[in-house]
Amino acid sequence: MKSSILCTTLLSAAVVSANPHFRRQGSLDTWAPGGPDDFRGPCPMMNTLANHGFLPHDGRNITLENAVHALNTALNFNTSVATIMWEQAVIANPEPNATFFTLDHLNRHNVLEHDASLSRSDAFFGNNHVFNQSIFDTSKAFWTQEILTPQHFADSKIFRQVASRSANPNYTFTAHVEPFSLGEMAAPFLMFGDIEKATVNRSLVTFFFENEKLPVELGWKKQANAINLEDVIRMSEVIANATNLQTTATPVVVDKRALHGGFSFQH
Ligand code: HEM
Ligand SMILES: *[C@@H]1O[C@H](CO)[C@@H](O)[C@H](O)[C@H]1NC(C)=O
Ligand SMILES: *[C@@H]1O[C@H](CO)[C@@H](O)[C@H](O)[C@H]1NC(C)=O
Ligand SMILES: *[C@@H]1O[C@H](CO)[C@@H](O)[C@H](O)[C@H]1NC(C)=O
Ligand SMILES: *[C@@H]1O[C@H](CO)[C@@H](O)[C@H](O)[C@H]1NC(C)=O
Ligand SMILES: *[C@@H]1O[C@H](CO)[C@@H](O)[C@H](O)[C@H]1NC(C)=O
Ligand SMILES: *[C@@H]1O[C@H](CO)[C@@H](O)[C@H](O)[C@H]1NC(C)=O
Ligand SMILES: *[C@@H]1O[C@H](CO)[C@@H](O)[C@H](O)[C@H]1NC(C)=O
Repeated sequence: MKSSILCTTLLSAAVVSANPHFRRQGSLDTWAPGGPDDFRGPCPMMNTLANHGFLPHDGRNITLENAVHALNTALNFNTSVATIMWEQAVIANPEPNATFFTLDHLNRHNVLEHDASLSRSDAFFGNNHVFNQSIFDTSKAFWTQEILTPQHFADSKIFRQVASRSANPNYTFTAHVEPFSLGEMAAPFLMFGDIEKATVNRSLVTFFFENEKLPVELGWKKQANAINLEDVIRMSEVIANATNLQTTATPVVVDKRALHGGFSFQH
């Protein structure tokens, strides 16, 4: 039994590598933006991983296996953290008990996608998922140092929330969105930064947002140590602390909903 599973696995591995259409391993030196028939979504990193082929380039069939492969191979996510992220995101597929989601599913407004993104417009204004340079420029305006701290992200997020709330009569940002949003801000520090110090080089972050490409040509390498659940939670808490507009410290509680990919309006 065991050996027949092994044989089948080896056989399918051989078929996969022999047929270029089924290669899904991805690499840092291959990259192509999505074409007209490919799905892309509101997450700059999921788009990036698809552009490199770590996720299916067509933006479809994001199974647990495919997501864990991409997050682990490209970014050195701990596989159990990657599993939680996928499990919390698969509800983006409206089919019950779905075994995959697509990048288009991530565009569904107020499921995972939400208002006041740093680099996307609100659904109310038309397009909630395509990278929007003029929106991103308003966020970047707060990134005033070459080495970014959590406060730089917090400032741009608060600006985006104020801008959206004042201009969008349908502005929605619930208590459930908050931890998800904190996780999104933690992510660039975790992927590209110094996790201990909670700092990240601005060039790497802006290159990533603006090109949806891993910043290899700027010297970036994936973290040497796997990114663990404690890292994600602690970084989200650092960001949460930085969003406090009072100058006195107030404790904030962050839980694993901050694992971005992490929550649903429906829960
Ligand atoms: C299973 C994995 C993931 C899923 C399902 C996912 C999904 C999403 C979704 C639905 C959004 C849109 C939220 C909004 O409306 O702004 C988003 C935003 C974001 N994601 Fe991901 N994501 C994943 C992993 C990652 C990783 C590993 C990173 C690492 C850099 C990342 C970085 C971001 C950032 C920075 C944003 C905010 C974009 C903005 O505010 O304009 N994501 N993600
Ligand atoms: C979807 O991905 C799985 C791996 O998780 C693979 O076995 C399957 O063949 C893929 N399906 C399609 C339609 O590409
Ligand atoms: C991944 O995380 C799990 C659960 O937190 C932990 O038991 C495991 O040691 C971690 N693996 C690595 C490679 O860090
Ligand atoms: C989904 O899974 C649950 C729990 O395993 C099961 O009770 C339910 O019938 C499934 N629904 C569909 C549509 O397959
Ligand atoms: C970017 O967002 C602004 C504000 O919502 C909108 O007016 C503009 O049309 C968007 N640009 C693109 C290219 O979608
Ligand atoms: C408008 O707000 C409602 C309630 O928050 C929400 O369900 C709906 O998705 C929003 N629509 C748009 C286009 O923002
Ligand atoms: C940030 O990264 C850029 C691109 O790799 C590099 O030129 C620059 O020296 C870095 N800045 C700092 C302060 O490390
Ligand atoms: C967040 O702020 C609280 C209150 O000052 C502090 O106790 C906690 O250590 C901070 N969390 C992190 C991860 O820095």
